[in-house]
Amino acid sequence: MSGHGSGKVILVGEHVVVYGVPALVVGIERGADADAVAAEDGVSSLTIGDGAPIRPGDGTDAGRGFAGLLAACGVTRAVRVHATTDLPAAAGLGCSAALGVAVVRALDQFGARAKADADDVATRALAWETVFHGNPSGVDVAAAARGGCFRFRRTESGPVIDDVPIARPLTLAIGHTGVASSTKAMVEGVARLRERRPEIFQKSLDGIAALVGNARLAIETGDLGALGHLMNLAQFLLAGLMVSTEEIETMCRAARDAGALGAKLTGAGGGGCVVALVEGDATPVLEAWRERGFDGFATTVCRGAGGDA
Ligand code: PMV
Repeated sequence: MSGHGSGKVILVGEHVVVYGVPALVVGIERGADADAVAAEDGVSSLTIGDGAPIRPGDGTDAGRGFAGLLAACGVTRAVRVHATTDLPAAAGLGCSAALGVAVVRALDQFGARAKADADDVATRALAWETVFHGNPSGVDVAAAARGGCFRFRRTESGPVIDDVPIARPLTLAIGHTGVASSTKAMVEGVARLRERRPEIFQKSLDGIAALVGNARLAIETGDLGALGHLMNLAQFLLAGLMVSTEEIETMCRAARDAGALGAKLTGAGGGGCVVALVEGDATPVLEAWRERGFDGFATTVCRGAGGDA
C-alpha cells in the first residue's frame, strides 16, 4: 500500500496564522510518497530515501515521531516503511508534513482505524510534525493531506478549513534561497517582536489579515494581477516582521523584473523559499533565479481543496 502527501505553499498569511489570522494555502504536486509492508523480522523501521533506518523510540526525534505515527494510526504489528520526497527540507514547503501524511496513508492498511479521511490523516500526521515543529499551526499537515487551495484558520477548538475555488489556474515559480531555516526559531523571533513592539506587530497583523481577505477574492474571481500585487504587499509587511533576508529580497526583485505578477517569501522566512505568481510561462523567472545561483521549479494549482475545477 502506498501513500502520498502534498508539499505546500502559503500564498498569504504565514506567521500571523499562528495568532489566529487565516492563511491562504495551496497543496502542490511535489511532495512525498511512502510504501509500507509487514516486517518479517518483527522490527518496525522507517527509511527516508537512502537514509539510515529509523526505529520507533530509538532516542532520536525521528524515532519519536515514527512511534507517534504508529500509535496515532493504531498499528500494533511490525511494519517496514520506505518514504521518498522531492521537496527540499527546511525550506518552508512542508517537507516533514508531506512525509508524515504519506506514511500515515501507507500505514492505513495496518491500522485498527483504517479508511481515514483527509482531516483524520492530517490529525494523525501531527504526531510526527509536532516533534519537528514544536507547536505547529497545523497548516502543513492540512495541505499535505488535502492538496488544492484552501483557507486555514487556527482556533482553540482546532483548525477551521474552507475550500477556496480557483477561477483561473495559479502558475507558481518556487525558488530556494539555498539557506535552511528553522521554523521554530523564526516563529520565536516574531513572538519576541510581538512582546517588544506590540503596536507595530498588531499593525502588521491587521495589514496581512486584510491582504488574506482580498487575496481570497482575487483567487475566486481569477484576478491574478490583484493577487500578485497583494503578494508583494505581504512581502513588505513580512519584511517588517524581520523574517525576510537579503537572498529573499534579491529573489523577489529578480522575479518581478522577469515579469512575475508578485513575489514573496513562503513559510517561515529567514531563508527557505520564495513564491512568485506568473502569468503563463514560469521559465523567465526560473532563469532569472538560476542566473543568480538560485534553484527553482514551477507548479500549477488548478483546483480548490474540495476538488472543484
Ligand atoms: O514550516 P514552514 O516554514 O512552512 O512555515 C510554517 C508557517 C508559519 O506560519 C511560520 C508557522 C506555522 O506553524 O504556521
